Formats: sequence, structure tokens, C-alpha cells
Amino acid sequence: MTTFLGFTMSNTTPVTSSTIELANGPSQTLSFKETVRERHSVRSFLPTPVPDAVLRSVLEDAQRTPSNCNTQPWQVHIVSGATRDALSKALLADDEAGRMTPDFSFSTADFCGVYSERSKAQGAAYYQAIGVPREATEDRRLASRYNLEFFGAPHAALLFMPSFGDDVRVAGDIGMYAQTLLLSLTAHGLGGIPQTMLGFYADTIRELLGIDPSLKMLFGISFGYPDKAATANRYRIDKAPIEESVTFHN
Ligand SMILES: Cc1cc2nc3c(=O)[nH]c(=O)nc-3n(C[C@H](O)[C@H](O)[C@H](O)COP(=O)(O)O)c2cc1C
Repeated sequence: MTTFLGFTMSNTTPVTSSTIELANGPSQTLSFKETVRERHSVRSFLPTPVPDAVLRSVLEDAQRTPSNCNTQPWQVHIVSGATRDALSKALLADDEAGRMTPDFSFSTADFCGVYSERSKAQGAAYYQAIGVPREATEDRRLASRYNLEFFGAPHAALLFMPSFGDDVRVAGDIGMYAQTLLLSLTAHGLGGIPQTMLGFYADTIRELLGIDPSLKMLFGISFGYPDKAATANRYRIDKAPIEESVTFHN
């Protein structure tokens, strides 16, 4: 049993039909297919910092990302140690005060049809995994606030971008960068989670880190060594079959 935000959780209860055991340790070399399938959103981390050489190797991988006209528009700010702690404190204070300054809008209410269904299914699976029932609104709020503590991760990469045109192409490049970073983390025995929620506090992050106001924040990625025993990490969300996403035209 472990404790998460004051909730006692069983480490052994399978919560969805897709619950799997993590088979690969950090020392094992993963094939590309294994890396893609091993990657998942990690929502509980060990406090152990990532060694500088490993972090550099991950960032070198991510730097290989393709981008529109090779503009490489990602500006990545990594917080660790005392800066990470100070930022978390500032974000929690913002949350407490209801102070939000996102550069880009976001609302799950905008999702429709199957996209809304998938979004709801993902929320339900996560809260079931950490043992928070639907009606426990305060516990859900606390669980959501854990985003602002970087889910216990010792590091977070905050992804900023210059603004060009309607920003859509640039945002696409940042998304590609993020996935390369996430896959490299997995290949190095690490884990991460992309977090739109961190971007809700863009002004605070810019101020605390001295980031140029012309750079917009898309989202952040908390990362480190996954706490594999944590219930939050022991469920996997299903993906739709390719037939729901791909149309072949011959
Ligand atoms: C751009 C982006 C932003 C996300 N923001 C959050 C977030 O703020 N908080 C969170 O708990 N999960 C966040 N997620 C994680 C998604 O919920 C997760 O990727 C999705 O449910 C699929 O699960 P998987 O990553 O384990 O495959 C985000 C994912 C992406 C790609």
C-alpha cells in the first residue's frame, strides 16, 4: 500500500482491463516498438534527480525533431532543485487565488462526440486508478493540484515558443519535439507527462524564470524516474483501433 495525497492506495488492484505489469527496467535496451508501447503518462515519480549526462542525452535526442522549414522553434526551460520547488509553490499559490494566465485557451467542454467520450473515459480511468470516486470533488481537486507539484517529479521542462502567424504550425513543431523527448525519456528508463495545466500559469512561470514575454508557453513536461509501485502508474489507457483514425485511399 502507498499513500498519495492522503489517499491510501492498493498497488495490486487491476483497475482496467488494460492494466499491465511494467516489464522493462532502465538497464534493458528497448526496440522502437517497445519504446513506443512502454511510454505512458507517468503521474508519480521518485525524487531521485536525473544525472546531468542522461538529461543531456535526452535533450540531444529531442533536438533531432523535425520542424517547419527547420525553424526549431522550441525554447525549453528546465526547472530542478530549489527553482523547481519555488515554482511549484508559486503555481499552488496561483491556483489557490484562482489566478490563471494561459497563452492559449483550453476547455474540455470544447470536445464533442467521440473525442468527448474518450476524454471522459480517460478521466474516469485515472480517478478510479488512484481510488478517488466521482462524487469526491475535494479529493479530485487535490489530485488535480498534484499537477502543480509536478506529480513529485524532480524536473520539469517548460515548452515555450515564438509567435508566428496564427501559431498553429509552431505549436505542431512543439508537439513533435515533446513526443521525441517523451520517447527518449522512456528509452533511458525515465518517464514523463505532458501537462497543459502548467501552461495555465504562463505569466508566473515567465516572471519567475525571467523569460521574454514574447515567448508563449504551450505546455510543460514533468519528468524523472517513474515510481513503478504507485497506483497512478499502474493503469494504461486504451487507444482506438487505427480504423477510427486512418482512411486509406487507393
Ligand atoms: C499536450 C498534452 C497535454 C496534457 N496535459 C495534461 C495535464 O495537464 N494533466 C494530466 O494529468 N495529463 C495531461 N496529459 C496527459 C493525457 O491525459 C494522456 O496523454 C492521455 O490520457 C493518454 O495517455 P498516455 O499518455 O498514457 O498514452 C496531456 C497530454 C498531452 C499530449
